[in-house]
Amino acid sequence: MDTRNFRNDLICENLSVNEAGHLCFAGQDTGDLAKQFGTPVYLMDEDLIRARCRAYLSAVENAFGGRGRVLYASKAASYKRLYEIMREENMGIDVVSQGEIYTAVRAGFPMQNAFFHSNNKTDDDIRAAMDAGVGYFVADNTEELLAIDREAASRGIRQNVLLRLTPGIDPHTYEAVATGKVDSKFGFAIPTGQAETATAFALSLKNTALCGFHSHVGSQVFDAEVFLRAANIMLRFIAQSKAKFGFEAQILNLGGGFGVPYTARNPKLDIAKNIGEVGEFIVRLSAELGIAQPEVCFEPGRSIVADAGITLYTVGSVKEITGYRTYVSVDGGMTDNIRYALYGASYTILPALKMGEPRNLTADVAGRCCESGDILQKNVPLPRSTARGDLLACLTTGAYHYSMASNYNRIPRPPVVMLRGGKASVAVRRETVDDLIALDI
Ligand code: LLP
Repeated sequence: MDTRNFRNDLICENLSVNEAGHLCFAGQDTGDLAKQFGTPVYLMDEDLIRARCRAYLSAVENAFGGRGRVLYASKAASYKRLYEIMREENMGIDVVSQGEIYTAVRAGFPMQNAFFHSNNKTDDDIRAAMDAGVGYFVADNTEELLAIDREAASRGIRQNVLLRLTPGIDPHTYEAVATGKVDSKFGFAIPTGQAETATAFALSLKNTALCGFHSHVGSQVFDAEVFLRAANIMLRFIAQSKAKFGFEAQILNLGGGFGVPYTARNPKLDIAKNIGEVGEFIVRLSAELGIAQPEVCFEPGRSIVADAGITLYTVGSVKEITGYRTYVSVDGGMTDNIRYALYGASYTILPALKMGEPRNLTADVAGRCCESGDILQKNVPLPRSTARGDLLACLTTGAYHYSMASNYNRIPRPPVVMLRGGKASVAVRRETVDDLIALDI
């Protein structure tokens, strides 16, 4: 089919429409995949995930000539197969919990390349992370620094740490994911002087080795300027620490946050170009400030996996409320995609097997949970013929979907199916009702 008719639909490079009018994802017919694996189902394009890792790695290599790292922020999507992919692609990882650490370890990930985040690492978390040989702890607060130091002392080791700092930047994204502002639960604020106090404190500890600083300004950021502003503030802080304490940071971790297209309205970011600009800026400013150029880390999550994922659903009912609106209910909802309910996030939802039909029905696509707020998207254009049994595809669901899924209403979580080289294989199987009672005593 002529894909020019689908300009607003095919927002990602791995989408197409075949002669039968079926949506294809990673070259595979979504109708066949739904038959084979059932619905709802998360599909992940493994080839695209690997291509994204390589694009990031080569951008960082070009920009920093071997003095940079790319860490996959695994909160975006975390299961064994993904850590295996990251190991094979020579990526580092960002982990935030014992669960993510354990999954990575079980996938054979080399944990010296892991950075451990979170704003409240318990003593138990700290022990587990050290047992696993996590390379770097990103310390968020003073209590945590002390606890890391204590545990390292008891093991007779010196643990590498970075300090999480808030540069005081508003990245113009939605409130729940803006983390770089001074008024944030994360990190030590630079503008208030607390970052400097924390640096002095970290340098006084005997069993931690301060390696550098971290900042993450927010998520779904399209304005590349934001990263330059963050780099500017962080490098000046590094220069200030050198002048004040004689401490020269070896690592500057700039976090993640690059935005991805959820709808045709979102711009497409050129990651290589953006990282190139940040690179040039860092090389120039480091020289200007008289500091050694630190090793620069990026921590992308969403921009590695988001548009490598789609979710397929089956329609159960089409309910027209005369004079109001039409609801199209599907066999999933806020349990597999909480993002509209939580953030009012925009999505593109397509009639997977009726791509050639005119979209002359406007409907709210609703989930199956007992809650009015369980909506996947409002005002979705769909064919008038939409009926029970039809297949809908929600695009850009590879990040923060499976990892934020729940069992609300005791609904089992969908499986995750990986697509690679024209083949499909299950990476996470569908939950069963027995899984749901597995913890009940
Ligand atoms: N590094 C740190 C320290 C982070 O906190 C995050 C995301 C990332 C990296 C990765 O950011 P990304 O490249 O994925 O934007 N649940 C929300 C997103 C929360 C992001 C939290 N931190 C959502 O569904 O939009």
